[in-house]
This record gives sequence, C-alpha cells and structure tokens, in this order.
Amino acid sequence: MQELRFRKILLPVDGSEASARAAEVAGGMALASGGELLLLHSHKHIADFIGEPYYQHLLDRLRSETRALLAPYRERLDAAGVPYDERVMDGDPAQDICTVAQVEDCDLVVMGRHGAAGVAGLLLGSVSHKVAGRAPCPVLTVR
Ligand SMILES: Nc1ncnc2c1ncn2[C@@H]1O[C@H](COP(=O)(O)OP(=O)(O)OP(=O)(O)O)[C@@H](O)[C@H]1O
Ligand SMILES: [Mg+2]
Repeated sequence: MQELRFRKILLPVDGSEASARAAEVAGGMALASGGELLLLHSHKHIADFIGEPYYQHLLDRLRSETRALLAPYRERLDAAGVPYDERVMDGDPAQDICTVAQVEDCDLVVMGRHGAAGVAGLLLGSVSHKVAGRAPCPVLTVR
C-alpha cells in the first residue's frame, strides 16, 4: 500500500463559502498529519500589451483585491495554529492549481466543490472539474 502522508496540502481559494469550508477540512488534516498548507489564489491575468500607466494601476488593484480575499483565510489559519505558506498566480485557475501542485510537490489538493460563481445544477464547478481530472496528486472536493 502507498503511505498517505499529507506533508503539503494545496488549498486553492476564491472567497466562496465552499472554499472556506475546504479551508476548515484542509487545516484539520494538516494539523492531524503534522503537515502544512499552501494557500493559493489565482487572480485575473492582465494583458501585457495594455501599457503604462494602466498596467500598473490594474496590477495594484488586483493585488489589493487579492490581499483582501486572502485575509479571512489567513486569520482563520493563524487562529487555529495551522502552518501555511501563500502563493498568488494570474493565469487560468485550474492550470495554476495543477502547476503549483506539480512544481511544489503537493500531496493533496483540498478545494470547494463549487465556488464564487455557484452555478446551480452543476455537480462540480469548472475549476474543480478540471483539477480533479488533471492534478498530479489526489483531490478532495468539499461541499
Ligand atoms: N481563481 C481561483 N483561485 C484559486 N482557487 C479557485 C479559483 N477559482 C476557484 N477555485 C477553487 O475551486 C473551487 C470550485 O470553484 P469553481 O470555480 O470550480 O466553481 P464555481 O465558481 O461555482 O463555477 P465556475 O467558476 O465554473 O462558473 C473553489 O471553491 C476554490 O476552492
Ligand atoms: Mg468559479
């Protein structure tokens, strides 16, 4: 049997209730297995041809929105004493999640089954659907 040790758990978040619940599960698992979390958000990509000063202006705005989005997760993890590190990406979220899982050698991805868009009727959001199919490690989706 393969030994399952969750040394590094990737937690991609989008500000949704489902990803807050995923953070509770991922944090609990990290504490139980003596591992750590990698908190990840992927924000919109700004086209390179947009030029200055607009590029910098948009980048500053996206960075501050991302800081605000991540703040409640940070607070929760800090309060619970869960060790974590943070990554911010700016591409296709599913692709970014799979890339980070691969490059940083994560043992598990824990994410919401749905996200901020919360389209009714779908079993999975498009990001969790793609990650479940493409991630290099096991994926746990949280309702
Ligand atoms: N931009 C993102 N950065 C990091 N993680 C994300 C991002 N978007 C979604 N996720 C993760 O994926 C989970 C599922 O969200 P997903 O986007 O698949 O569903 P949705 O928003 O309901 O539907 P969709 O976006 O496909 O219309 C979220 O709970 C979160 O864990
Ligand atoms: Mg979404």
